[in-house]
Amino acid sequence: MLAGKKIILGVSGSIAAYKSALIVRGLIRAGAQVRVLMTPAATEFISPLTLATLSKHEVITSVHSEAGWNNHVELGLWADAYLIAPTTATTLAKLAHGICDTALVAVYLSARCPVFFAPAMDVDMWLHPATGANVARLQSYGNHLIDVESGELASGLHGQGRLAEPEHILEILADHFATRADLAGERILITAGPTHEDLDPVRFLGNRSTGRMGIALAEAAAARGASVELILGPTELSTTASGVTVTAVRSAREMHAAAISQWSECTTAILCAAVADYRPAEVAEEKIKKKEGELHLRLVRNPDIAADLGTSKRPDQLLIGFALETEHGLANAREKLTRKNLDFIVLNSPRTPGAGFGHATNQIQLVDRNKVTDFELKSKRAVAEDILDRLVAVKQTR
Ligand code: C5P
Repeated sequence: MLAGKKIILGVSGSIAAYKSALIVRGLIRAGAQVRVLMTPAATEFISPLTLATLSKHEVITSVHSEAGWNNHVELGLWADAYLIAPTTATTLAKLAHGICDTALVAVYLSARCPVFFAPAMDVDMWLHPATGANVARLQSYGNHLIDVESGELASGLHGQGRLAEPEHILEILADHFATRADLAGERILITAGPTHEDLDPVRFLGNRSTGRMGIALAEAAAARGASVELILGPTELSTTASGVTVTAVRSAREMHAAAISQWSECTTAILCAAVADYRPAEVAEEKIKKKEGELHLRLVRNPDIAADLGTSKRPDQLLIGFALETEHGLANAREKLTRKNLDFIVLNSPRTPGAGFGHATNQIQLVDRNKVTDFELKSKRAVAEDILDRLVAVKQTR
């Protein structure tokens, strides 16, 4: 998929910059043409000579050098894809705000090709709201996040923030150029994210879902030719992928109404959202004041979107659910499969390290009436591809 492709690799100054050598080597081995841009800070971690030797081309480290000045517009037009890996917190902020003091950012602003950015930083920097806002802003411009992975960090801390593994980055680029269209003609409804159930004008009941898994599914399905209706609960993340129409909702009832109104037009629904089972019986018009003693909230049941779509499911439609269980996973998943009239269910456990809410990775089991299939811990995009492969396989048996 990468043979003959023209790829720019932007490297910024993180300890993970050493992995850029593996990325360049992988791209060259796959037959791509590669041009490397480095920020001055990146050159402190890995020598431009290393990347020049591997890419077989001079490395640009400054927009003011002859090569940098002449090339920053030309390169932006030349490339089929621009990969920025690793992307440090500083470079992320500069990209998000168009602060053009490095060749890396100058080329980004001139690039007309798809841009992929793979952040790398320490866990607290990654979790800082400033970083989250910059990531969301870059995504909102249509750039593709290659999510961080979780594990040991250079600081000695454990957590999210590691640069995605080079093989994984190469896979994502290869997927981008793949012209698999096995979902062409399908119209897929996807629910994703949490719901917020209002208590009063400033408070709500919610959950920790970020919508990442559902967004990965939507992007993967669209890349495979489907037209996707993504009904997304309140989250910082979103997508601008072509082929995906996003309907933003807040509460379970809004999500239910949006899903019901789209269902008859769709061939498949994948219900990934963490929908609140209950909502406050009353929403106070004014902020609830504290008083002496306990406060009791009365909650009422929300509609079950999956069960309602299951009831009206036609024989030509497929319905896929998710189950997040802290105990008796398989038994609960099987019970839901039947009760909600699902074709298969994706089971994940929040107790598996690296799986579930907020992580870039997930580990799943696919459960249908006859069998259970186990999968390894993978990026959410790779998990999405596994789920879609199963969907295609089920369609083919019909
Ligand atoms: O019953 P439980 O919430 O565990 O079921 C999970 C599955 O049902 C998920 O696919 C979820 O998106 C869906 N669901 C729904 N509407 C609800 C509750 C769950 O669509 N009110």
